Amino acid sequence: MANPLPYYRVLRDEHPVYYIPAWDTYALSRFDDIWQVLGLTDGTFVASEGTLPSAEVLGHRNDGPVADPPLHPMPFHANFDSPLYEEVRRCTSGPLRHRPVAKLADRIRRLANERLDELLPRGRFDLTQDYGGIVAATLVCELVGLPTDRAPDVLATVNAGSLAEPGEGVEVGNARPGYLGYLTPVIEERRAAGADGAVPIPDALIGFRLPDGTRFTDTEAATQMLGVFIGGTETVPKITAQGLWELARRPDQMAAVRADLDANVPVAREEIIRYCAPAQWFARTARRPYEIRGTTIQPGQRVITLLASAARDEREYPEPDEFHWDRRIERLLSFGHGQHFCLGMHLARLEITIMITEWLKRVPEYHIDAESASRPPSSFQWGWNRIPVQV
Ligand code: HEM
Repeated sequence: MANPLPYYRVLRDEHPVYYIPAWDTYALSRFDDIWQVLGLTDGTFVASEGTLPSAEVLGHRNDGPVADPPLHPMPFHANFDSPLYEEVRRCTSGPLRHRPVAKLADRIRRLANERLDELLPRGRFDLTQDYGGIVAATLVCELVGLPTDRAPDVLATVNAGSLAEPGEGVEVGNARPGYLGYLTPVIEERRAAGADGAVPIPDALIGFRLPDGTRFTDTEAATQMLGVFIGGTETVPKITAQGLWELARRPDQMAAVRADLDANVPVAREEIIRYCAPAQWFARTARRPYEIRGTTIQPGQRVITLLASAARDEREYPEPDEFHWDRRIERLLSFGHGQHFCLGMHLARLEITIMITEWLKRVPEYHIDAESASRPPSSFQWGWNRIPVQV
């Protein structure tokens, strides 16, 4: 994880379906293979062991298909197959659809400018945490029903939760006490207030009826919000900050983008997402045999889809290690694909576009302190957590 890119190239070229005996898992590294596997929605692959299982879970050898978990206590719903998975997912997806998200543009612009009002007079600050970090965490607070003054704590908690020691990994998707400490009280409060739909995500979860007629407990409902809590906080700030860094490194590309911000930032944003998305992999467990490149993956075995390798696959993108702001991108795997594709995709795109545009409008020149920038160790992401900037 210090620098996975050279390994990915070897995997793509020489071992596109690479077996890891200790985990009884196949690593898929080519864009097209991952696109196909994630695109299957017939239950061949499910996330019954989690989409980001820890090393401990992977260390257990399954001798056949893994059943869905029991309904109670319910883990994060992504561990279930259809139709329950989609039914719970719908509780969180409403406010993240294209139309409701488009209405957030003014709010995001205002938040971005409030941050810039505070940060620019300081001269030096952290581009990941202080700018995008606070904006993204504030929006997450609003989505899940937390007071927005908790945004800095949410940001720090989620960042800390992604760190991992080599060999251990983290079980990101499922209940982590630090996260539920924020989310369970929200459910309790919304339940006490009647869950009338005023805060759509927790209220929909409180109202949800499971197939056996029961409802979620407070902890179970809170657990279903982990995707938004973590996904909404983690990625956008790192991509925004690294994207601004990649542009600053290439004055000709910066000039081209600055020539017409409204037209060009949305184009550059796609290349920024391809080039900078920090999540490296997600897992699935086979429920039925699946053949790929002459290998049959058996029920109970897993695949890890190396999305970050797919983003650098020369079979999909010419000169994949080069950053071209106006690269033609026909397919992108950075938000996943198929059943579990990113719920926050529209919001993420809007946040990145607005934050980059507002920054470039207000900051004529900036310098990144590359020596002090850092990517802390994590078992599933490789992202710039700290990017000190001088304006
Ligand atoms: C550019 C920023 C982002 C990127 C690159 C990204 C990437 C991804 C990817 C690759 C997945 C699929 C995981 C899998 O296949 O197992 C995913 C899932 C998810 N993302 Fe994002 N994400 C981003 C921003 C967001 C935001 C802003 C939110 C919410 C506000 C969010 C919420 C979620 C949720 C809830 C899931 C779980 C979906 C499910 O399993 O049903 N993400 N994200």
